[in-house]
Parts: sequence; C-alpha cells; structure tokens
Amino acid sequence: MELLELKTWKDVSNYVEQGFLQVPNWMFEHIVQHTNYYPPHAFSKGQLASKSWLLHELYHLYPKPPKPTIAILGSWVGSLNPFLQKSFAPERVYGIDQDAESIEKSEKLNQQYVMDGWKYKGVVADVDMLECSDMQFETGGELITVKPDWIINTSCEHMSTLWYDTVDSDQLIIMQTNDSKEFDGHINPCYTAEEMQDKYPLQQTLYVGAMITPAYTRYMQIGYK
Ligand SMILES: C[S@@+](CC[C@H](N)C(=O)[O-])C[C@H]1O[C@@H](n2cnc3c(N)ncnc32)[C@H](O)[C@@H]1O
Repeated sequence: MELLELKTWKDVSNYVEQGFLQVPNWMFEHIVQHTNYYPPHAFSKGQLASKSWLLHELYHLYPKPPKPTIAILGSWVGSLNPFLQKSFAPERVYGIDQDAESIEKSEKLNQQYVMDGWKYKGVVADVDMLECSDMQFETGGELITVKPDWIINTSCEHMSTLWYDTVDSDQLIIMQTNDSKEFDGHINPCYTAEEMQDKYPLQQTLYVGAMITPAYTRYMQIGYK
C-alpha cells in the first residue's frame, strides 16, 4: 500500500502545486467570477490534492484509455470532470448526484462540455436506486440506458455501499473514502485502508493507498470486483 504523508497544509499546497492536476485558466477565472455560487470547500486544498492524487494514479495505470464512458457517483459540483476530459478524452462523463442544485452548478462549471454533444452531462439521481451495471435514468428529457466503463466515487463516506453491490466485474472502480466523522453527511467513513478493502472487496487491486492530511486521512483503491 502506498502512503502519502502530507503533515501540514503547506505540504498539501506543495502537493497540489507540484502535482498532476493543473487548473486551466478558464476554470480558475470561472471560479473567481462566481465566488459565491460554488461551495468554497469544493475547491479547497484538500479537495484539489485528493483529485490530483486520483488523476495521477489513474493516468499511471491508463495513460491512453480507449474513450471510456465514465460515471461519477456523488459528483457534487462536477469539479473532477474538466481534468478527466483533459487527461482521458472520454466518450462521455455522467456526473450523478441526488442534489439537483449541485447538478445545476456542475453543468454551469462544465458548460463547454455539455454543449459539446454532452461530453459531460449532469444527472439528478440517488445512486442507491441505480444499477451500476445497467444504469437507467432520465436527463435532459432523454431516457438513457448505459453501462459505464469506469465508475468513480470520491464520496463513498456520504453513502451506503449499495452502489458497490451493483457494479459488474468488467467495470473499473476508482473510489476514495476517508476517516472523518466531523463533516455533515459523513454517514459511512472508513478508519483504515484495510477497512475500505474489506467493505469494498476487489478481485484485482491495481492501486491502494492512503493520503494523510492535517484534517483527515483519505483512502483510495482502483481495481475490478
Ligand atoms: C459534499 S460531496 C463530498 C465530496 C467528496 N468527499 C469528494 O471529495 O468528492 C458529497 C456528494 O455526495 C452526494 N450524495 C450523497 N449521497 C448520495 C446518493 N445516495 N446518491 C447520489 N448522490 C449522493 C451529495 O449530494 C453531495 O453532493
């Protein structure tokens, strides 16, 4: 297991600055122009560091994937999508969240991708009610049936494990959880990487690691069930 120790906020800042994730100018300007529109902690150091970590490890495993269709579960305001578009040229990314306001914000942040033939599309849905291996939902007036190639969930601590039960063995799982009970909505934290691996067992683990930050430890695994 890889252990990434970022003991101070300065370490976290350095990791973001020197890391994989480079915030494009248009995104930076958009966020600054809409300061009070997006929840500020959606772009906090901790958020950026954890997304950078995910993108780095995923790119290491799949530098040139064959245009995956991606579902992000608990996608919040869709901040991961621009980086997925840049690094992996996906066929389409569905950002799925039960909160309609977050999805509206995600489509504003990702407007250029929504306009480009739905390279990004927001979906309002409770992931507990979806079958990941055979997703069916309504968005933009269309009824969609899709089996995403990649299932990304960086919000596992916010939900039960029901979503995991419905993932098929040929879908790549990229998931993060953390050990913090202090934040609103953290109903399902994991306190060690082993606990994550027990709760979300993989047949083929391609990556497992922990990122220690001053506020919490985040765990990530990538692989197949
Ligand atoms: C506040 S964000 C947390 C971000 C996460 N820790 C990360 O780093 O990306 C969690 C999101 O999960 C969503 N969520 C929680 N339970 C859900 C469910 N059952 N179905 C869909 N979205 C859900 C919430 O609406 C929220 O937008």
